Amino acid sequence: MRSSTQRAGADVSARATQARDQGTSSVSRRSFVAAGLAVGAGAAAAPLARTAEAFAATPAGKPSRGDIAILRFLAAAEILETDLWQQYNELGGIQDPEVPGGSGSKPYTEALQVLDEDMPQYIHDNTEDEHSHFAFINAYLESKGAEPVDFDKFAELPSSKATGAQQIGRLTNLMELSVDTSYWTRYRSRTGNPDLGDTFKPAVPGLLEGKFPAIPRDDGDLEPEKHLQAIANTAGFHFAFIEQGGTSLYPSLAQRVRDPEVLRILLSIGPTETMHFQTWHDKAGNAPPLHDPTNGLVFPDLNEAQPGLVLEDTKTNLIMPEPTAFLKRKFPPCSIIRPTNTEGAAMGAVQALSDDGLFRGQPPSFFRVLKELASEADAAPARG
Ligand SMILES: [Fe+2]
Ligand SMILES: [Fe+2]
Repeated sequence: MRSSTQRAGADVSARATQARDQGTSSVSRRSFVAAGLAVGAGAAAAPLARTAEAFAATPAGKPSRGDIAILRFLAAAEILETDLWQQYNELGGIQDPEVPGGSGSKPYTEALQVLDEDMPQYIHDNTEDEHSHFAFINAYLESKGAEPVDFDKFAELPSSKATGAQQIGRLTNLMELSVDTSYWTRYRSRTGNPDLGDTFKPAVPGLLEGKFPAIPRDDGDLEPEKHLQAIANTAGFHFAFIEQGGTSLYPSLAQRVRDPEVLRILLSIGPTETMHFQTWHDKAGNAPPLHDPTNGLVFPDLNEAQPGLVLEDTKTNLIMPEPTAFLKRKFPPCSIIRPTNTEGAAMGAVQALSDDGLFRGQPPSFFRVLKELASEADAAPARG
């Protein structure tokens, strides 16, 4: 009779073979090479035998099968983050040897700078951080004989046609977003917690009622002025949406990690997502209230009480997390990241990013691969 580790190895080997047959197991990072970013994760495909070995081996000090699955999902999430941030940087960030690619759109950059004059620097640095996250995690996976993650075959979505963007295939779509801004009221609530079943109203409901660009789709989007500012405002709220997701994802998945070194990776990367979120949360509050005359999108004045909300739900300077219910309502309110429930956390992240419209245009095979990675991460046994 085979041992459970042998069974696990065979199981994973079969999945790896399936992945190879689907053409998803190699690493070439074409989109990032095309973008000119430094490549740190080694280009060769990991032999499948080594992958199976890593999943099967779980002695003390070695990542468990679940640890590897969690790291692989996080590598996928970071690759997708890098792809979207790279697009923002090409048009609205600083294009330099640290984050090359693109040549910038002066009008778009100036519209972003209405939110803060340092926006291009922050976009640049967030982009560099995401690239470092995926390159590190993939390199770490390879160092453990595990299979790194590659989405190059799915980098087929079109680039913006606006002056300043590279014309390369993309993994993410920033031109048809439906941004959920309920994070805004969630972090201002003094009683609600999504982990306890509470729901939250979006601060900018209009962003959920259509498909809006967060980068200019072409140079026609550079005017009229209020339309371009609406695009920059959308980006401002989207930056915080993306990073609040990472802020929750890392602590949620850390609860399933077994190996101390893998736990250290999650506990060291996760809070940088939170630092990003905090910055963007502050900057989005500077997005000017306006009405986009081309499509009707409204950015309300969040320093006035909005329908169905009280002023404290939206006031722009309330960027520190309000103390709220945590674990059980009988405990005193606590200032915390929310949500951090570990059940289904990876699949929840996939759903949130899909609902955001980030993957509009991707084929069903993309979603299958991403969901497979998420379900394997979510299947890692929780501690306790
Ligand atoms: Fe990241
Ligand atoms: Fe991030």
